[in-house]
Amino acid sequence: MTSHSDKPDATRRDEAVQAHYEALPYPARDARDEARRLVVGSPSQLIEIDHYLFAGRRDWSQPFTALIAGGGTGDACIMLAQQLADRSCPAQVHYLDLSQAARTVAEARATARNLANIVFHTGSLLDIASLGIGKVDYIDCTGVLHHLEAPEAGMRALAAMLGEEAGIGVMVYGALGRSGVYPLQAALKELAPQSLPPAERIKIARRVLDALPQTNWFKRNPFLGDHVQGGDAGLFDLLLHARDRAYTVEEFAQLVAAGGLAIANFIEPVRYRPETYLSDAALAKRTRDMPFLERAALAEKLAGNLTKHIAYLTWPRRVADCIAQADGPHVIPILREIDGAAMAASVAKAGALSGDLDGVKWRAALPPLAGAMLARIDGKRSLGEIHRDVQALDKALDWERFKRQFDQLYAAFNAANRMLLRSR
Ligand SMILES: C[S@@+](CC[C@H](N)C(=O)[O-])C[C@H]1O[C@@H](n2cnc3c(N)ncnc32)[C@H](O)[C@@H]1O
Repeated sequence: MTSHSDKPDATRRDEAVQAHYEALPYPARDARDEARRLVVGSPSQLIEIDHYLFAGRRDWSQPFTALIAGGGTGDACIMLAQQLADRSCPAQVHYLDLSQAARTVAEARATARNLANIVFHTGSLLDIASLGIGKVDYIDCTGVLHHLEAPEAGMRALAAMLGEEAGIGVMVYGALGRSGVYPLQAALKELAPQSLPPAERIKIARRVLDALPQTNWFKRNPFLGDHVQGGDAGLFDLLLHARDRAYTVEEFAQLVAAGGLAIANFIEPVRYRPETYLSDAALAKRTRDMPFLERAALAEKLAGNLTKHIAYLTWPRRVADCIAQADGPHVIPILREIDGAAMAASVAKAGALSGDLDGVKWRAALPPLAGAMLARIDGKRSLGEIHRDVQALDKALDWERFKRQFDQLYAAFNAANRMLLRSR
């Protein structure tokens, strides 16, 4: 028999991670809340998957298979399964997680919504090939790979499940935005050791947080809030985790490459552009011709506040063509979580789209027809139809002039991941 102390460190960490998510399924969710709201986010909204991985041309009347790897309490799984059901897509969503407790919450949420398109599995994504699912069209893996002993092995296991015309939505922690987390985790390993029960460790961690001096980098980091908003599960995940690491853009790109994959785009795109953080136009101009990944890496260094990296990945041979383009009158623009008419009224006054990227003020000028176009963007009308409608107000508005203005509008809203495209 092997005594506890004889176990390799990696095995003990595996067990600690599993015990953590059995005790505190993440994020904390209650199936009763399904009656009043659908949790939506990135990655893995259907319109985003279509836009970033299928060039806006995915036919949802055709079968679709998705895998949610490390599905936790079900946020991505429930969102995607619900959106596929709403379109009557003949889809199957495979949920997989190590934690039975997390699965129980996710299953209760699926039951509350009468979702019949989810297959639940318990196990490790490292053993995924043994589940007999076959190749899938899409994988969601958010907040999971950075908890593995060998994240590259996890990425390879996921890539091995991907079909030829398929992609992944992924999230890993961002190194710079999490400044201060790892020294505090190390301190808490001393003050609230793993040998104590989770509830005791949480109490001690709260006492430590209360006592931290203003000089502590975690205390000074305003970009982290899971320990406040996420309850006990959030605090444990952030500060008492047995194993997590964070990635710079360069390290993330290496992780992706380990699976033989490439990054199609980051979410939100505007956060990964150096000019977002360089108000000096001459300096910003110097970065315009840098390769995509170098620009993203530079943006991360300038921003300092990226606590996570969300990205869509696919096979390198698809990466140039997998993102939807506004390339003709057949294309349908879709506003994401925005009401076009309300937005039309507000931008008509401001003449610009502005936002706050966790403390970074961002502003994009909008074209004169922005209000008229936004008022007509309803996720159903095509650009050709919108052009015809707007032309009724301005007879001289030919397609080229209309399209130039639409491109400017689209560039602004898409940068913030607020406008996506689909083809008819
Ligand atoms: C931070 S939670 C994220 C949950 C979910 N993806 C989300 O974003 O809401 C991490 C989840 O990954 C699961 N997990 C960790 N290692 C895993 C592995 N090797 N295979 C499958 N699931 C794993 C944990 O049990 C936990 O539910």
